[in-house]
Amino acid sequence: MPAIVLVGAQWGDEGKGKATDLLGPSADYVVKYNGGNNAGHTIVIGDQKYALHLLPSGILTPGVVPVIGNGVVIDPAVLFSEIDALEERGIDTSQLVVSANAHLIAPYHRTIDRVAERFLGNAKLGTTGRGIGPTYADKMSRVGVRVQDLFDEKILRQKIEGALELKNHLLVKVYNRRAITVDEVVEEFMEFADRLRPMTADTALLLSNALDAGKTVLLEGGQATLLDVDHGTYPFVTSSNPTTGGACTGSGIPPTRIDRVIAVVKAYATRVGSGPFPTELLDADGEKLRQDGAEFGTTTGRPRRTGWYDAVVARFASRVNGVTDFVLTKLDVLSGWERIPVCVAYDVDGVRHDEMPMTQTDFHHAKPVYEFLDGWDEDISAARTLEDLPKNAQQYIKALEEMSGAPMSAIGVGPGRDQTVQVRSLV
Ligand code: GDP
Ligand code: IMO
Ligand code: MG
Repeated sequence: MPAIVLVGAQWGDEGKGKATDLLGPSADYVVKYNGGNNAGHTIVIGDQKYALHLLPSGILTPGVVPVIGNGVVIDPAVLFSEIDALEERGIDTSQLVVSANAHLIAPYHRTIDRVAERFLGNAKLGTTGRGIGPTYADKMSRVGVRVQDLFDEKILRQKIEGALELKNHLLVKVYNRRAITVDEVVEEFMEFADRLRPMTADTALLLSNALDAGKTVLLEGGQATLLDVDHGTYPFVTSSNPTTGGACTGSGIPPTRIDRVIAVVKAYATRVGSGPFPTELLDADGEKLRQDGAEFGTTTGRPRRTGWYDAVVARFASRVNGVTDFVLTKLDVLSGWERIPVCVAYDVDGVRHDEMPMTQTDFHHAKPVYEFLDGWDEDISAARTLEDLPKNAQQYIKALEEMSGAPMSAIGVGPGRDQTVQVRSLV
């Protein structure tokens, strides 16, 4: 039985949360494998709206075991406030399992994230300020703190001492902040130890056993391909691997057990924070997309940058992730345009590029080469089959499919769970 990976194809906020929720009933386990509470997924079920950050979107599906994998970074206070908020709304979170190897976000990580951004000035990345980058940096530097460390206070203290030794120099001498004491961090973390213990497991073993038993495991990526620290628009990226490779390292499920890779792609493009964005619209058209698509961040409330669909980006996502299916979202937002530009290639200083340019400099110089597709006026939010869509909307989907490297297997026509045109089965 299959492991299925679901990734974002662009710069995040493609509608991964809704897509995961849609697939929820077909999955036995839904695993978050990267990122932390920098993610923001809005899921609409009937008249209820849920904003999830750290918990896998599968938490909203009864019967699914939600798993936070080893590749995730966890802010324990955020974890429990999210759990409590869902429980208050009648969602059962008792099945949640957390990897013993997941790293913890400490208060000093959040501080460093914010002050480092301030120091960068105009060159800032526009991070979410949640401590994500500094926590992954500590993981790689081997001075991180893991969930399992909470169960041995002596070890926890030693690790925090090790981590703070250098950091306090940085905080005090470079950033002009106060030093953080080992005691305050230990105390804060230990508050969560008893509550975390019963939900902690060797999740890689759990998932391997689940696959052996014929269960379906859905691996849900946070962020997206162009925010991947290896494959994205570095340095304007997040500090993890949202791409398919990250699904393996972040869960312990090997590549040989993955048989489907679903990429969620928006019918236009958005980006939050700094960094290159070739099809960005800085005019009234961009503002119209932002308003029509309600493009304001779930996590930070920042207005999202908006632009036209970029098929070079989609092809790239298809290639680096091994995409088998796309879920095309927010097609309904494009109703009302006479013609819709789609970027098919870049012009980089007079040279046509059909693939992502190799260097950061070239990508910063990339100008979109547009093809113009005919638009439609109809409200399509009630469509449930391809035939329900206006001819030009069908043509738009077909054209995107041909340019993007994989079939468009489901089309989102609204935020609601049922507002989907299912072209072929995804599981
Ligand atoms: P994620 O981070 O990829 O999970 O995406 P977000 O939840 O941050 O942003 C996607 C937004 O679009 C959410 O507010 C969703 O409710 C909404 N959404 C998802 N799919 C569709 C769709 O097909 N049409 C419309 N109009 N909204 C959608
Ligand atoms: P979801 O899962 C959109 C962006 C930030 C910033 C950069 C680095 O909802 O798609 P970080 O705090 O991760 O160090 O910030 O990455 N970013 C996102 N943009 N959607 C997200 O998640 C994002 N998570 C991080 O805006 O530019
Ligand atoms: Mg989001």
